[in-house]
Amino acid sequence: MKTFIIKARKGTTRWERLRSQIGSSEHFEVVAHCVINAFFISSDFRTDVEVYIILDSSEDFPRTIKLSSSEGLSLSGFHEEAVVAVVEKALKDSQGLKKNETRNVTPGVSVSGFGFEKLVEQLLETRPLYLLAPKGEDIRTITIEPNPVFILSDHLAMPKKSISGLKRHGVKTISLSKKMLFASQCVVLIHHEMDLAMA
Ligand SMILES: C[S@@+](CC[C@H](N)C(=O)[O-])C[C@H]1O[C@@H](n2cnc3c(N)ncnc32)[C@H](O)[C@@H]1O
Repeated sequence: MKTFIIKARKGTTRWERLRSQIGSSEHFEVVAHCVINAFFISSDFRTDVEVYIILDSSEDFPRTIKLSSSEGLSLSGFHEEAVVAVVEKALKDSQGLKKNETRNVTPGVSVSGFGFEKLVEQLLETRPLYLLAPKGEDIRTITIEPNPVFILSDHLAMPKKSISGLKRHGVKTISLSKKMLFASQCVVLIHHEMDLAMA
C-alpha cells in the first residue's frame, strides 16, 4: 500500500464552494492533479493506493477525505471534474458529521471529522511516515519501509507547527530534488521510485 496525505490549507469543507476553488487562489486543482496522478496510469488504475485530502478551511473543524482504490474507489475519468465530483459528493453526503466521527460515503470514500494531527497520530501506530521537502534526505539514499505514507502540502508551504510535530515523532524528511516541484509532480516521482524498486 502507498498512501499520500495532501494537506490543503485553503481546501473548503463546504461542498457548494469546492468548484469555485478550481483555478482560483485556493487552487484546488493542485489536489485534483495529485489524486489523478496517485491513481491513474495509462489504461489502468493503481489498486494499492490511498489518498487522504485534508481540508483545513472550515467554520468548525477540518475534514479528512480518504480515497482508497483497494476499497472500491471509482473516478469517472482522469480529469479535475471527476475528482471534484467525488469530493463534493463526499462533503454533501457527510453533512452533519460530528467532530472525530468517520462516515463511509461510497465505496472507497470516507470522511472524517478531524484534520492532520489526528490522522498522523493514527497512521504512526502502524505505518512509516515520510515528509516531503526539497531540503530532506535524497530519496535514493534511504530505504523506504513497506507500506509508506508520504506527506505533502498543496501549493502552500507546510505549516512550521506541523513540520515540528512530525519531526518530534521521528518522521524522516525526504527529497526528490533540490527544485520546488508541484505536489502532483512529487506524487509521480514517488510512484516512479517505488515502481523501480519493485521491478
Ligand atoms: C508546490 S510545493 C509547496 C510550495 C510552497 N510555496 C512552499 O514554499 O513550501 C508542494 C509540496 O510538494 C512537496 N515538494 C515540492 N518539491 C519537492 C521536492 N523537490 N522534494 C520533495 N518534496 C517536494 C513538498 O511537500 C511541498 O510542500
